[in-house]
Amino acid sequence: MEKKELLYEGKAKKVYKTADEDRFIVMFKDDATAFNGKKKGQIQRKGIMNTAITKIFFELLEEKGIPTHFIELVSDNEILVRGLEIFKIEVVMRNIAAGSISKRLGLEEGTILKKPVLEFYYKDDELGDPMINEYHIFAEELATEEELNTIKKMAFEINDILRDFLKKRGIELVDFKLEFGKDKAGRIYLADEISPDTCRFWDISSKEKLDKDRFRQDLGNVEDAYQEILSRIEK
Ligand code: TMP
Ligand code: ASP
Repeated sequence: MEKKELLYEGKAKKVYKTADEDRFIVMFKDDATAFNGKKKGQIQRKGIMNTAITKIFFELLEEKGIPTHFIELVSDNEILVRGLEIFKIEVVMRNIAAGSISKRLGLEEGTILKKPVLEFYYKDDELGDPMINEYHIFAEELATEEELNTIKKMAFEINDILRDFLKKRGIELVDFKLEFGKDKAGRIYLADEISPDTCRFWDISSKEKLDKDRFRQDLGNVEDAYQEILSRIEK
């Protein structure tokens, strides 16, 4: 399918229309940002690596019964996806404390959470994606109760599937962010991407960070970390 006009450009991706009004092409950029766009840079070959990583995870999830927006690869940094109305909610799932939960609750990085923690953020760059709860979601009609129940159930299932898959490959799934959308019939799909940009991955034994925290924290070897994730999950 051919790309038509650019519909939207985000910090890490571009979305193009196609001849089919229900299909879009997502192009993954090498650009990287952090701290709501305050830190900017480039990660060489990130677009290609995140495309390949997202494809593997979305195909795995589809196989396990999770509907995703992924249809097929278009090129090495582009995918064809279903057109969806995206919920203005970022869904974060955490298994181990790191990042903002460590700061907010004073939990040492690496603290194992006794149960996975599900959090919601309002998807709004100008507001800096503030944390919200279910009452905010219903008050602002960001999703109905029924839709949110489906999203929560899918998020926990995705956590189980990914954790198990990654553990076998020597990777700890610390936390990750998901986005969901619905089609015209109201069916809910997993959207966006699953990559080292949107997840924290640690090597199980050394605890080495293999994700965007290497860029956020200037740890070096960013490209190598993304490639390491791709190489381990390709098998
Ligand atoms: P946090 O600890 O900064 O709240 O991040 C939790 C997870 O969500 C982590 O895996 C990174 C991911 N994330 C995004 O994908 N986009 C974002 O804008 C933020 C803040 C986090
Ligand atoms: N992607 C977000 C930003 O640009 C935050 C992050 O991933 O740290 O700021």
